[in-house]
Amino acid sequence: MSRIAYVNGQYVPVSKAMVHIEDRGYQFADGIYEVCTVVNGRYWDMEGHLARLDRSLRELQMDAPMDHAALRVVMKEVVRRNRLKNALVYMQVTRGVAPRNHAFPPEGTPPSLVITARRFNLNRGDALAESGVSVISHPDIRWGRVDIKTVGLLPNALAKQAASEAGAYEAFLVRDGYVTECSSSNAWIVDESGALVTHPKGNTILGGITRQTAIACAEELQIKVIERPFTLEEAKAAPEAFLTSATSFVTPVTAIDGVRIGSGKPGPVARRLREAYKARAARG
Ligand code: PDD
Repeated sequence: MSRIAYVNGQYVPVSKAMVHIEDRGYQFADGIYEVCTVVNGRYWDMEGHLARLDRSLRELQMDAPMDHAALRVVMKEVVRRNRLKNALVYMQVTRGVAPRNHAFPPEGTPPSLVITARRFNLNRGDALAESGVSVISHPDIRWGRVDIKTVGLLPNALAKQAASEAGAYEAFLVRDGYVTECSSSNAWIVDESGALVTHPKGNTILGGITRQTAIACAEELQIKVIERPFTLEEAKAAPEAFLTSATSFVTPVTAIDGVRIGSGKPGPVARRLREAYKARAARG
């Protein structure tokens, strides 16, 4: 069975799914995206992802391709047509097709919408969480508005490639000595008192939806959360570190640049938080 994608009003086999060469997403990275997961047929954190989609559109003065109700229908349909129970759903909106010109195209140019889904392997994530993952540090060379979830991800791709070449799972991005986030996830440490520490929201990190839900889970578990920048040195000396994203949930980090974190095994705080996150997401 071939995979099916939604492209501008049509469901088409992925091999035939095309966008125009003058799409602004292709030429200027003038587009935004969301990634969310479907577990046992249920969308996790869908509200949060749709709210962030709206925010990204607003920040870039981009038109919405359709309203939330319609988007939900299309997302469900893509998952259904691909016969997936556990899925990773990718949704991308660009400013549409127009002859190449940096300034925005004429008002009324329809935005492009692409939605794809692929199988989400839950067991792989659980296995990684059991073993813990290693990360490298990498300079954060991104632009000044990474709070907007744009498809302009070249610095992120370079960082992930560096991690991959080093045999690591992720890269902790470092700016002025401080860890902002990772190439495709948010970065956290646990301090000596057992509190969670993560970079505050603002223009220098993406406000992760999983980050937001993890904060709510920590509150439920009565674990203190401190939103403040932390240094790479602090992270290396921390009892625990972990990362969060829609696809990795809460994944313990057991080494940074080859330096063992805590005991070198996933710590109790990250484990509890992962379980709480999964339970909360499954409740919907
Ligand atoms: N990445 N920071 C960055 C730079 C990200 O790209 C992501 C998500 C996150 C975590 O956000 P959330 O919890 O909403 O997934 C943080 C997705 C998964 C991706 O690009 O594939």
